[in-house]
Amino acid sequence: MTSDERTLVGWQADHAEQWNRAAIHVPHTLHRAPLFALDALAELIERYPKDAYALVHTNHTSDGQRRWREGDRAGMPGRQVIDAIAGGSLWLNLRDVGRYDRRYADLLDATYAEIGARMPGFAPRSLKMGILISSPRAQVHYHCDLPGQALWQIVGRKRVYVYAPQPPFLERQALEDIAYAGFEFKLDYRPEFDASAQVFDLAPGGMLTWPLNSPHRVDNEDCLNISVTTEHWTDDNRRSQQIHLAHAVLRRHLGWSARSQARSGPSYWAKAALQAAWRRSPWAAQVQQASRPVEFRLDPRAPGGMVDLPTADHGQ
Ligand SMILES: [Fe+2]
Repeated sequence: MTSDERTLVGWQADHAEQWNRAAIHVPHTLHRAPLFALDALAELIERYPKDAYALVHTNHTSDGQRRWREGDRAGMPGRQVIDAIAGGSLWLNLRDVGRYDRRYADLLDATYAEIGARMPGFAPRSLKMGILISSPRAQVHYHCDLPGQALWQIVGRKRVYVYAPQPPFLERQALEDIAYAGFEFKLDYRPEFDASAQVFDLAPGGMLTWPLNSPHRVDNEDCLNISVTTEHWTDDNRRSQQIHLAHAVLRRHLGWSARSQARSGPSYWAKAALQAAWRRSPWAAQVQQASRPVEFRLDPRAPGGMVDLPTADHGQ
């Protein structure tokens, strides 16, 4: 796609005012881009490095808890992987696609250049794109992300619930703990939150973005879903994340509860230095290097399309 082709065909003037203040739903054309055709995605899957994707099987244990197990494509052709996901209970996340294929990075840059042209002053310092392929009726649990986010629907339909990034939907300490861990995780969810949620039905050609750190959850309809996730870091986002991390370090290591969210001045710079020192410390590596073992590989000849791996195969 060249820069004179528009991606955000449904952008309205008031979207610039609402950006990062409310969840907004904007029509786009990425679902028609050749890079997101099924054959292109199948080919991308086949050359994607193992350490850059997550293939996850979900099921429910006898006590009703949802269990995630991480797996390996194990050489299965890309179209068969997509078919396996369409068969149920699997999702595949290709992380940071632009890093492994420059064409996706160029498309991401062009798309955000369009957004920047419509919102003077919006100048992210870094951008990332992921591709999420997920099963019919798959759910993404209630969580929030640290960078700015947008979700672009390519194939299938899903319902997205978005909640305000403030108590009781998001407690300050939970956000600090996510910054400390270095990855998003499940937040406490209560069904009564839904009365305050913004709810969107996303179909191919729909993009959704929401205020920074807004908790959200997703229910796929009864069809294969392919979505593009984009994340952006502005200077302001980065400073907020540094403050959350510094507050977590102060609370966990010094028992001090800091509250100021100032993103400039001496208190900000002291926290920026503190979180930078913590990131270089051995404790940060211990906290942030946790990863799930690989517990299965895909195999079309096996019952259920997968083979369990012995735990000794962790990380293979
Ligand atoms: Fe998310």
